[in-house]
Parts: sequence; C-alpha cells; structure tokens
Amino acid sequence: MVPKWVCAGFVYLLLGLILNVAEFCNGGMTSGYQRPNNLSFDMPLDSDVFRVPPGYNAPQQVHITQGDYEGRGVIISWITPDEPGSNTVVYWAENTELKNCADGIVVTYKYFDYTSGFIHHCTIKDLEFDTKYYYEVGIGNTTRQFWFITPPKVGPDVPYTFGLIGDLGQTYDSNTTLTHYELNPAKGQALLFVGDLSYADDYPFHDNNRWDTWGRFIERNAAHQPWIWTAGNHEIDFAPAIGESIPFKPYTHRFFVPYEASESTSPLWYSIKRASAYIIVMSSYSAFGKYTPQYKWFTNKVTEVNRTETPWLIVLMHPPMYNSYVSHYMEGETMRVMYEPWFVEYKVDVVFAGHVHAYERSERVSNVAYNIINGLCTPVNNHSAPVYITIGDGGNQEGLSTAMTQPQPHYSAYREASFGHGIFDIKNRTHAYFSWHRNQDGYAIEADSQRFPTSTETIGRVLCSFIKIRVSFRFLSNSRHDIFDIKNKTCGIAIEMDFLSMLILTSFTGKNLEIIPRILYNMIRNSFLLAFLLIVRLLGLFVLQLNCSCYKMNGLNYRGGFIVRPPKDIALSAVLGPAS
Ligand SMILES: *[C@@H]1O[C@H](CO)[C@@H](O)[C@H](O)[C@H]1NC(C)=O
Ligand SMILES: *[C@@H]1O[C@H](CO)[C@@H](O)[C@H](O)[C@H]1NC(C)=O
Ligand SMILES: *[C@@H]1O[C@H](CO)[C@@H](O)[C@H](O)[C@H]1NC(C)=O
Ligand SMILES: *[C@@H]1O[C@H](CO)[C@@H](O)[C@H](O)[C@H]1NC(C)=O
Ligand SMILES: *[C@@H]1O[C@H](CO)[C@@H](O)[C@H](O)[C@H]1NC(C)=O
Ligand SMILES: *[C@@H]1O[C@H](CO)[C@@H](O)[C@H](O)[C@H]1NC(C)=O
Ligand SMILES: *[C@@H]1O[C@H](CO)[C@@H](O)[C@H](O)[C@H]1NC(C)=O
Ligand SMILES: [Fe+2]
Repeated sequence: MVPKWVCAGFVYLLLGLILNVAEFCNGGMTSGYQRPNNLSFDMPLDSDVFRVPPGYNAPQQVHITQGDYEGRGVIISWITPDEPGSNTVVYWAENTELKNCADGIVVTYKYFDYTSGFIHHCTIKDLEFDTKYYYEVGIGNTTRQFWFITPPKVGPDVPYTFGLIGDLGQTYDSNTTLTHYELNPAKGQALLFVGDLSYADDYPFHDNNRWDTWGRFIERNAAHQPWIWTAGNHEIDFAPAIGESIPFKPYTHRFFVPYEASESTSPLWYSIKRASAYIIVMSSYSAFGKYTPQYKWFTNKVTEVNRTETPWLIVLMHPPMYNSYVSHYMEGETMRVMYEPWFVEYKVDVVFAGHVHAYERSERVSNVAYNIINGLCTPVNNHSAPVYITIGDGGNQEGLSTAMTQPQPHYSAYREASFGHGIFDIKNRTHAYFSWHRNQDGYAIEADSQRFPTSTETIGRVLCSFIKIRVSFRFLSNSRHDIFDIKNKTCGIAIEMDFLSMLILTSFTGKNLEIIPRILYNMIRNSFLLAFLLIVRLLGLFVLQLNCSCYKMNGLNYRGGFIVRPPKDIALSAVLGPAS
C-alpha cells in the first residue's frame, strides 16, 4: 500500500514538471507586475527640490565626479548665477586643521535665447584614499560647505558599492528614484549614470532653464558622491532649426569628466579605475566605427586593463545592445556589431545601459558568431560574455516603455517596466551582487527567479537557507499587483517559507545535494509553489513565497513601511572573476 503522501508528492511532482517545462519553453521571466501607463510629470519650477540657495550669487548645482584615473582626484563643479565670483575651492581632510585651496576655471555658453550662469569646474588632486573631505565653494556669507569620501586605493579585493541610475529626468518619479537610492541601506558610494540627464530638450527650444533645475535637483546627492557620467541622446541638443548645431553643448559645458587621464581625446568616452573596478564609458552618439578616435581609444584601453589590479570590468553606454522591449528595439545593434567581440574576448563583466525606460537583465550571452552569411544569429550562452543590464528607468517625463517583444527571447533573464535604480555591490575579486530596486507602491515584491550558478554554490546556498529559517509577516498595500494575482487585497500577510521547501529538498536528495540538477530543484520548487497557490486561492488570505536563497534574505532591505528587495541577485563572479 502506497502511503497517501507519496501519491500527493507524485501529483505535485507531475504538476511541477509541467510548470517546469513551461519555464524552459519561455525565455526568462517577464514580470506580471501591471501598472497604469501614466505619464509622469515634471516637478513644477517652484518645487522644493529646485529651490535656489539663498544669498546673492550663491553657488548652486554643486556636483562632483572623479577627477583623475585612479580616484585621488575630484572635479568639483558649481554655477554662480549673477557674476563669476570666486573660482576657488577650499578643502580639508576630516580631523585636520590644514586647509587647501585649488582654483578652477569658469565657462559660460549660450543656447538659442538662453545664457548660462557661470559654470565653475575645479579639479582637486592628490587626495588621500578612503578619506572624508570637506569642501567649500562661494564667498562671504554665501559660502556653501559639502563633503565627500574618496574611494579606497585601487586593488583587487576592495569592496565598493556603485549605484546605477539612467534616464532620470526631473519628474516626481525621478525624485522617488533618487530618494530610494539615497535611502537604500546598501549605501551606494558612487553613482554610475547611464545617460539622459535632465530632459531639458523636451521643452520648447530646449529650454536650458531645465538644465539648471536638474542641477539643483541632483545636488543633494551629486555634491557628496561622484556621479560618473555617460552621454545619452538627450544630451545631444542638436537643433539647427534654432541655430544650435554643436552637439552636446550644454552637457559638455556643465559636466566635466577626467577624459584626458585615460588618454581619451573626447569627454564623451573615457575610463577610470575606482576601487576594484575598471569603468569604461562609451558614446553611442559619436563616431564609433572602425578607425574612428573612439574605436582606436577603446580597442587600446580594453587590452590594457590589468585584471589583477581591477578584476571588475564594467562598461557604460546609453542604448542597450541587448533589448527585448519594443522601444528602441535594435538601436544598439550597430554598437553591438562593432564592440561585442571585444567585450567577450576581454571578459567584460557587465554592460550597463539606459535609453529604454524599463529594466531588463540578460543572461551571459554572446552573438559574436553571427557574420551575416552563416545564419548563426541566435545569441548563445557563454560564460565569458557580459551580463547586459538596462536600467533606463529613472523616471523621466516620457514615461515607461511597457511594450515588450513577444515571446521573451531566451537571452533575456528578467524584464519589467517599472521605475527604479540598481546597486552593484562588489565584495571582492570574485563576488559581486547586482540588485534592482523598483520604486513602486511603497512595497517591492520579489518577482525575479533564482539562479544557481554552480553546484558547490548550490550546496552552500541550500544549507544557508536551511539555517536561516525565517517566517516574516507583512502587510500588503492595496495597490499591490503581483505574480500570484492577489490584486485588490487591502490587507494580507506574506509568509516566506524557505525552510519548508528546503526541508523537502533535503529529504528528497539525502546527502547528494551538490548534484541536484537544476531541473529537479525547479520541479520540486514549482510543485510546492503550486500547492501553496492553491491554498492561496482557497483562503484568499495568504501569499506564500518560496525562496531558496540566502542572498535574497541578506538582500532584503526593510525600511519604513516598505520592503526594497532585489528581485534577482547575480553572483557574477562565480563564472567570471578575473580573466585568466
Ligand atoms: C494617472 O495619473 C492621474 C494624475 O496624476 C491620477 O489622477 C490617476 O489616478 C492616475 N491613474 C492611474 C490608473 O493610476
Ligand atoms: C550677505 O551679506 C550681504 C552684505 O554684507 C548682505 O547684504 C546680505 O543680506 C547677506 N546675505 C545673507 C543671505 O545673509
Ligand atoms: C522630493 O523628495 C524629497 C525627499 O524624499 C522630498 O523631501 C521632497 O519634498 C520631494 N519633492 C517633490 C517635489 O516631490
Ligand atoms: C597588474 O597589477 C598588479 C597588481 O597591482 C601588478 O603587480 C602587475 O605588475 C600589473 N601588471 C601589469 C602588466 O602592469
Ligand atoms: C565563448 O566565447 C569565447 C570567445 O569568443 C570562445 O572562445 C568560447 O569558445 C565561447 N564558449 C562557448 C561555451 O561558447
Ligand atoms: C568573496 O566574498 C564572498 C562573499 O562575501 C565570500 O564568500 C568569499 O569567501 C570571498 N572570497 C575571498 C577570496 O575573500
Ligand atoms: C480590482 O477592483 C477594481 C474596483 O473594485 C475592479 O474594477 C478591478 O477589476 C479589480 N481587479 C481585479 C484584478 O480583480
Ligand atoms: Fe535615451
């Protein structure tokens, strides 16, 4: 006589298998998160975030970026509206008496009927690593004081946390994105900005006053940590009809970057070292074909990167090379054809892009075999290839890109049209975690799936989850929409039952955990998921999430009334790490 539970288990397994097959037939995961296709509105000119600092000619729009090749320099920029005023930055290390001065330069520009304020850029160099500095700009009673912290000395195991924002704009959603980034307990130390800053060019005659409001908006963060700039299409400001035919004029006057330090000949492409990362910024809106200055520079630089020193190689560009949204579909293709072989050969870890106003993460894929005549045009998995992440979801007034190409291609691991920001958290030379934090609804749900990079990691994670038995209760807001389809619940309780699935898993597999194939694991997970979903349906009360990763648990960030939770952590390093 077969015990009942065995029968039940068999049914679940069968159902799990079906679900599992479904999972394998599709590409990655498209979030079921439904949202109104509401345009976001720019914050009005009299908003608090745009307030002009008090006092005659007070410095405003203060922002900093890295000022040299390896992080001992900072470029400090600010604008004085009425007259040039002082060009000097006074700065000192925390706990020291000695104040230093550095003089910068001042530039102005005209754009149609707009005349800029006096834009100051001052590079301070030879700072100590890993030190807090205070600095002051302005004179007399309009002097303003800020601070920043220099990165640790460049080295392979230096932990460092980068934030990621793209296509920010200046809407209420932009403000939410920035606020969430600031409040994220992961504490980004420098921001990688993947292009499309102010969206001033969406206004009649590219109203450059919206560049100024944007500068004042981001000051609260950009005056304290470097924003690493990438130029997007909204920085081109090419408008010959109104006599403006010099591309990138407002952008290049307002945002200086240390391009000469990396032997670049243009501020639109350059590279820096920071902590354990080597960051290459590229310009998709400048010539990049063979023989062009950008191509020559890039192909030299990428071969020079010393992965013993900076194991993490990150590329930033504006339009994504891999994009399965309808919006801007194939726009990154020319860039892909030119540069993907280099990215694969030189083992770029991750390529961040914006442009598409949504989030998407790819598998590690390569399409370099395709050469037009051989027909091999399907991207294939390759552990040497980068992960491509689109993070153009900062929240600008053009709204979200909700339309996706169907079906989801295999290379696309996860996609969702929500505003948010990313965190790329480097632990050491082999481990880094990427998480994406959506802004939505005061509550962020887990929507992405789990990945087991290697079998040894699997056993580690399983044990880890097993130990970290945790049941958490939380209230759901009524606007919550999720993959379990419990819309319109004003109040519910979410329970995470990691331990249950783990219990079952261990009893199924005995001591041979390390050889569980992913398919079996998924099967079991899905069958339990299904069972719980049935209960959910019946009771209409609970949401149960099976969660088998201690990374996710560690990544759970509770804050105020909402939970910011990385839908997917990538153990990038497990497959890459330093190039061999
Ligand atoms: C869209 O935005 C308008 C104005 O902010 C708001 O009144 C409306 O409720 C929103 N619609 C949805 C479906 O959220
Ligand atoms: C700054 O000083 C000037 C002259 O001393 C004075 O007129 C002005 O009101 C002061 N401004 C502020 C913001 O205190
Ligand atoms: C923007 O966000 C900040 C911080 O959350 C808040 O203080 C401010 O009032 C917001 N401004 C607008 C216009 O939403
Ligand atoms: C690469 O970096 C390591 C560590 O800083 C250093 O020892 C080595 O000499 C460098 N290699 C080259 C070719 O510069
Ligand atoms: C991955 O790409 C590299 C470089 O193109 C190639 O040498 C290698 O064979 C590829 N590996 C797989 C598994 O396709
Ligand atoms: C790198 O960091 C990971 C995660 O924090 C840790 O498990 C691993 O032991 C570290 N490796 C080294 C060589 O320190
Ligand atoms: C949620 O409630 C609204 C209003 O009661 C209703 O129009 C809508 O169809 C409901 N949605 C779902 C998915 O049940
Ligand atoms: Fe864009």
